[in-house]
Amino acid sequence: MYYPDELVEEIRTKNDIVDVISGYVKIQKKGSSYFGLCPFHNEKSPSFSVSPGKQMYYCFGCGAGGNVFTFLMEYENYSFQEAVKALAQRAGVSLPEAEFNEEARKRESRRARLLEVNKEAAKYFYYQLRGEKGHAGYQYLRKRQLSDETIHRFGLGFANVTSDDLTKYLKNKGYEDKLIQEAGLAAFDEKYGMHDKFWNRVMFPIQDINHRVIGFGGRVMGEGKPKYLNSPETMIFDKSRNLYGLNFARTSRTNNIILCEGYMDVIAMHQAGFSQAVASLGTAFTEGQANLLRRYAQEVILAYDSDNAGVMAALRAIGILKEAGLTGKVLNLEPYKDPDEFMKNLGREAFQERIAQAENSFFFELRMLQRDYDLNDPESKTRFHREIAKKLCGFSEEVERENYIEAVAKKYHIGFENLRKLVLACAAQTGLAKPAARPKSGIQAKKDPRENQKKPQKLLLTWLVEEPALYQKIKKYISPSDFTEDLYRIIAEKLFEDLDQGSLNPAAVISLFADEEQQREAAGVFNARLSELSTRAEQEKAFHDIVVAVKRNSLEYFSSRQGADVSAITRVIEGKKALEELSKTHISLD
Ligand code: UTP
Ligand code: MN
Repeated sequence: MYYPDELVEEIRTKNDIVDVISGYVKIQKKGSSYFGLCPFHNEKSPSFSVSPGKQMYYCFGCGAGGNVFTFLMEYENYSFQEAVKALAQRAGVSLPEAEFNEEARKRESRRARLLEVNKEAAKYFYYQLRGEKGHAGYQYLRKRQLSDETIHRFGLGFANVTSDDLTKYLKNKGYEDKLIQEAGLAAFDEKYGMHDKFWNRVMFPIQDINHRVIGFGGRVMGEGKPKYLNSPETMIFDKSRNLYGLNFARTSRTNNIILCEGYMDVIAMHQAGFSQAVASLGTAFTEGQANLLRRYAQEVILAYDSDNAGVMAALRAIGILKEAGLTGKVLNLEPYKDPDEFMKNLGREAFQERIAQAENSFFFELRMLQRDYDLNDPESKTRFHREIAKKLCGFSEEVERENYIEAVAKKYHIGFENLRKLVLACAAQTGLAKPAARPKSGIQAKKDPRENQKKPQKLLLTWLVEEPALYQKIKKYISPSDFTEDLYRIIAEKLFEDLDQGSLNPAAVISLFADEEQQREAAGVFNARLSELSTRAEQEKAFHDIVVAVKRNSLEYFSSRQGADVSAITRVIEGKKALEELSKTHISLD
């Protein structure tokens, strides 16, 4: 849902940032700002600041920053729309209903009905487990060492042996056959009529990140096939875009996510305090799930079963994680089969140790690869080294590739130069991997060569925020279109408009961006500290250099586009003149 800018702004101004953040973080007034311990990284002395004047927060330690919307997005892992909704509610501002067309409205109400019927079914299973008929299920779960608290937290339930119980119950509540079937809770059969899909199983409701039940997994108690029965994919249950346990993991505030294979693994992990554990939903890990995880952590630790199937699944997952730009590590659970078993036998401290020892996914891949070669045979060994070289070509970035060549050479006792040559030879044949597409739009990763062009643009904006009086002195040289970086140009447009009117409103600028990364970057502009140059003369020189750098970059940019763009020519002529003038002009900071 798209909300108009004015409404977003109204909601923002009605939620004072100091009030909102005080609800989450202990902050104390110090001068014109409030300070506290940053909720986004571990620290012992407070570097997290909240400015009532700017209506923004910023952490000088980790660089987290933004306005009141950004805060909720980061803290609660909300989307921008969710943050707007939450704060609208907090301030008692009513939001317009989405304007759906007829078809969209139908779909929406169908979705809502499916969610309802799933919720009702989950309730039913939940109470069954606690009733007389559910005794076997409850015993089973307790035997697997789940506490009452855990059973409750994950909403575990039981489908009893009667095969049309749930259907009857749901029909009684007013849900029609068709919906019950569509939800995958029952099927129709000529001979038996409507019959429940799940019976005589312990039930694991599967929740989306907002804790809504979107499907179920049901396990036989003991042996029996299939071990798990899962709901089919429905309008609300997309198995490739949800993860079991993510509704809790997303607020775990760890810098990693632990990816397991099974529901039971996730539950055992959470019970032991590792609330960052998730699992895929009875299907292999997908690209969609990797993209989802990217919102919550940079590092994913694979805790897959130690058997061969687990290794194969891990190798597949590593590729997917890498594509998504996530760091993968692999946990060694030996001598146990899976996290659940490991936890039962060795406990949480031992598991924590294994996390610390988790193996770099590239080395894991090599170790698995090595199993196919006999390193005592020179022929086989050479082939193994060639395979390694081929894999090393997969690193598109030179620094990273060199680092890996170095590490691999050491580990496998190969001469560094020899391995390097092998990699280059291999690259000459197959070419190096293309750089992976970077996550999210707009912002480029740090290593980008454009960084050099971006920096002065960012600094100039920071100067103008810190010393608004400078605006009058530079406005005849610089206009928003000189900011060739999209993000900075958008900021400049708003900022210049504000400065023309003599009112600066940084927090409003942040709301121009719906993307969390962009908000963070924009917040950085308003909270960066200008370098601590000692003398006024040095500062003036620095500022002058920045203005010139921005103008020169803009001139180069438009020169390269002259053919394509008529207005570029004007820009170039104007740019040259401005640069010439600037070279003769002293801009005083006073
Ligand atoms: P596992 O067989 O490892 O099950 O399958 P588990 O979760 O560890 O359960 P326990 O500890 O043996 O009770 C891993 C996952 O694969 C899917 C389920 O999502 C399961 O959690 N699976 C497995 C199925 O969907 N169907 C099956 O028949 C088996
Ligand atoms: Mn298992």
